[in-house]
Amino acid sequence: TVQQKVEVLVKKMTLAEKIGQLNQYNGDWDATGPVTKDVGNKLDAIKRGEVGSILNITGVKHTRVFQEAAMQSRLKIPLLFGQDVIHGYSITFPIPLAEAASWDLPAIERSARVAATEAAAGGVHWTFAPMVDIARDPRWGRVMEGAGEDPYLGSLIAGARVRGFQGKGLGNLDAVMACAKHFTAYGAAIGGRDYNSVDMSLRTLWEIYLPPFKAAVDAGAATFMNSFNDLNGTPASANSYLMRDILKGKWGFKGFVVSDWGSIGEMINHGYVKDNYEAAKASINAGSDMDMESRSYINNLAKLVADKKVSVVVIDDAVKRILTKKFEMGLFDDPYRFCNADRENSVLNAPAHIAAAKDMADKSIVLLKNENNLLPLSQNLSSIALIGPLVKSKAEMKGFWAQNIGDESQIVSLYEGMQQAAPKANLLYAKGCAITDTSKAGFDEAYKTAMQADVVVMAMGERPDMTGEAKSRSNIHLPGVQEELIQKIMATGKPVVVLLMSGRPMVFDWTADHVPAILYTWWLGNQAGTAMADVLFGKYNPGAKLPITFPRTEGQIPIYYNHLNTGRPAHGDNDVNYTSAYIDLPNSPKFAFGHGLSYTTFKYSNLKLSKKSMRKDGSITVTFDLQNTGKYAGEEVAQFYLRDLVSQPVRPVKELKGFEKVSLQPGETKTITFTINKQKLSFYNDQLQWITQPGDFRLMIGSASDDIRLEDGFTLM
Ligand code: IFM
Repeated sequence: TVQQKVEVLVKKMTLAEKIGQLNQYNGDWDATGPVTKDVGNKLDAIKRGEVGSILNITGVKHTRVFQEAAMQSRLKIPLLFGQDVIHGYSITFPIPLAEAASWDLPAIERSARVAATEAAAGGVHWTFAPMVDIARDPRWGRVMEGAGEDPYLGSLIAGARVRGFQGKGLGNLDAVMACAKHFTAYGAAIGGRDYNSVDMSLRTLWEIYLPPFKAAVDAGAATFMNSFNDLNGTPASANSYLMRDILKGKWGFKGFVVSDWGSIGEMINHGYVKDNYEAAKASINAGSDMDMESRSYINNLAKLVADKKVSVVVIDDAVKRILTKKFEMGLFDDPYRFCNADRENSVLNAPAHIAAAKDMADKSIVLLKNENNLLPLSQNLSSIALIGPLVKSKAEMKGFWAQNIGDESQIVSLYEGMQQAAPKANLLYAKGCAITDTSKAGFDEAYKTAMQADVVVMAMGERPDMTGEAKSRSNIHLPGVQEELIQKIMATGKPVVVLLMSGRPMVFDWTADHVPAILYTWWLGNQAGTAMADVLFGKYNPGAKLPITFPRTEGQIPIYYNHLNTGRPAHGDNDVNYTSAYIDLPNSPKFAFGHGLSYTTFKYSNLKLSKKSMRKDGSITVTFDLQNTGKYAGEEVAQFYLRDLVSQPVRPVKELKGFEKVSLQPGETKTITFTINKQKLSFYNDQLQWITQPGDFRLMIGSASDDIRLEDGFTLM
């Protein structure tokens, strides 16, 4: 068995060789953190057995060079090549937050599957994905990389992504190891400032932030990554409560934990330890198995063992976890099994991968607003003005955390997509302004261009590098003078559609209030232009729903749908009479969690509960009818929320407990069923026990968290 092989190998290893396995270096390109230039030639270090893994080395040719060095080490232990394959490898898919908007678990799994297939063909063994951090703060640049704010949706997506990356299991040539990151609570960085501290109750940790990680373990995630933040004063990289008690203890995780880039050494800056010796001691004892780029382990573990500060048993446990994965990946059978140039050539950019990227892009576009059914556009328009700084952008469509290997000419811009979709229309173009520059020199030309067209489509947004790691913004408004340009174009009186591209919820109040049709397209990847054009012309009817709340302005942040009620809840947006409200701003968001329109309409009716009360171990079956009452075939995500009306401790005003994505032809009706059981009614009490409490519950079914169509109540006895 693998376990026996690991035991045999570990017995042959010197302490130095063991410590080498716990050491990960960046390769010789593409740093994804601050670079340290102190190790000399890395290939020589590998030959000496000082390295267990390399990150940021991709491609069959390149990985082979490094693996050849490992094969010259005494025990010939193969290297693991890790890479941030976040949303596609050669073919870029929509950013993860966009994919989450699809609420389409099979499509999300397929996206990860394609990414894994390509990455594995390109020599990669291990992706640093999925990021399963819950994020309630759109100022945080990394919201783009997760699944949004909800633990239920986030957990299902975490599982789908892990299954997608790992496919039929480690050892298959199209599977890469997944890495659930960042463990944990990284998304709750104070003020939305990246790497900042996190201070939260353990109950919030367990209820909101941990479930997606648990889902990743349940789906078989091979690895975990620490987060950069301290959690209530203890940096995650030395947090034994997180790693020993929860992850490896209660959850029985058998894989290994890698630190984030430099996060072990950074504990000196946190003020948690005084030097790298103490940092290594704290981290290895707490359960961080591999040190990414701190050099804390390679430089200190031997002395720590000699000083009896770290036991060999602890080192062996970490080594065994890592070696187990190397065996499971088949690397001891053939260290070059992911280094096949023919496979790399034939697998990357396969037509099926492009089709999957297009499908995912279609499914990620959210129709925020569509007054008077301005959309879809008619195919018979004779002229369309395309205005804005992102109309002709290509590489930008990839968004942050995209690999650089894709062929940029293959990325479809909005302009190209429109050319293909409406070959007979006269496409007029004006950039109007840049993304962040404040010059309005292009406004007049844009105005004139708009005046000549039947309809105007504007492509506006952030630069792709305004979200991602270390890309927090205090001001999340549509940047530069773009909203002023929208105002100018609206003054033409022409019908205007605005497409918004971004990796986070932005603030665009004027646009939201005045522009009749708005599509939130995030960053859609290779097939961005084709997908946007198909949605604009109704070839694809949008069905996505926001996985994160869009605030009216930054002052509302953090804002999320599953909040508590308070003792003085405001009743409506104007109720400021000694209520929990702002005197200068409604409490409601601009666009709520779960919001997203369609070109068709859906009727919810006929709600039935199999009974009105249940015992703890019983269940209630809920059914209702969903009918497509409009003209177009379309998809609806029916959402199922619960509220525990009286509880100690208190419960949120609404919690997502189920959803179903349904495809309906015009006039068609389907009956949807949800089951209420103990699991859906349970929560953590103050002692962190997972309990249920008898009492009354409210059941809400709707098209968005703020668009509830059917309601009823029931009692847990
Ligand atoms: O995987 C990433 C992580 O999410 C942030 N720091 C760098 C790592 C490796 O690139």
